[in-house]
Amino acid sequence: MAEPQTDLALRGDNIVKRFDAVTALDGVSLTLGQGEILGILGDNGAGKSTLVKILTGFYQQTEGKLYVHGEETLLRSVDHARSLGIECVYQDLALANSLSIYHNMFLNREIVRRGPLRLVDHKSMRERAAQLLDDIGVHVPSVDLPVERLSGGQRQAIAVARAVNSNARVLLLDEPLAAMGAREAALIIDLIMRLKENGRLSIIMIMHNYAQTLDIANRIMLMQRGRVTYQQRSANTSVTELMEIVRREYQAMRATTAH
Ligand SMILES: Nc1ncnc2c1ncn2[C@@H]1O[C@H](COP(=O)(O)OP(=O)(O)OP(=O)(O)O)[C@@H](O)[C@H]1O
Ligand SMILES: [Mg+2]
Repeated sequence: MAEPQTDLALRGDNIVKRFDAVTALDGVSLTLGQGEILGILGDNGAGKSTLVKILTGFYQQTEGKLYVHGEETLLRSVDHARSLGIECVYQDLALANSLSIYHNMFLNREIVRRGPLRLVDHKSMRERAAQLLDDIGVHVPSVDLPVERLSGGQRQAIAVARAVNSNARVLLLDEPLAAMGAREAALIIDLIMRLKENGRLSIIMIMHNYAQTLDIANRIMLMQRGRVTYQQRSANTSVTELMEIVRREYQAMRATTAH
């Protein structure tokens, strides 16, 4: 019998996902070690978001097995995944823009005062929110500001901070740097680097920029047309090598469609 791999935060074996006639994932296997950062790269439509949505319980796989902290698990819903410590920060973030920063950070898990009235403890939430943002190096003028007054990068940082605050053990980030300027991207990269140093979280992030991914991730996985076509430790590959692999694949695809 195989040893249980409890040192793995997540493992997927031969994951297949079909949407009617479309096969979005065609037998994807992956592992995510404790405290590891895995970067997923690949073309539009390669299946990256679909994979992350299966790992976060949003979709269920058509075939294949998932293991969470070594135990075989069928993730039934996003809430189910969350209860197992898996949090996702989607590209559209799902923050309540008109609410304050601190409200957003405690949305659906407000701190309440002891006593029969169970009043919401705004003072504690403000203090905790400010402390949390300070801890991860995000500087905002006040946690009372509505989220809509923040930049895209700050908002993304709030969403990540909220996920971190939720006792998540696995964090899934779908294109955290998409549509961001250099300064905002630097803020998120800095935040992810701090989490990496901390080592408590295991992270999967979908990225488009090869150089940034190699900088941040311990390991990268390249997806093409629903399959993993290459994976390697970041230290053992390069932007040039990755570009060459993608170029070769593209040429092979053109050659087959030309006939
Ligand atoms: N709900 C759905 N119904 C039908 N087809 C879908 C659905 N979601 C994704 N697909 C298809 O699955 C394939 C993979 O899509 P996915 O969104 O996972 O790609 P991606 O790698 O995240 O691409 P991008 O880089 O553009 O975000 C695509 O062909 C897409 O059209
Ligand atoms: Mg996507």
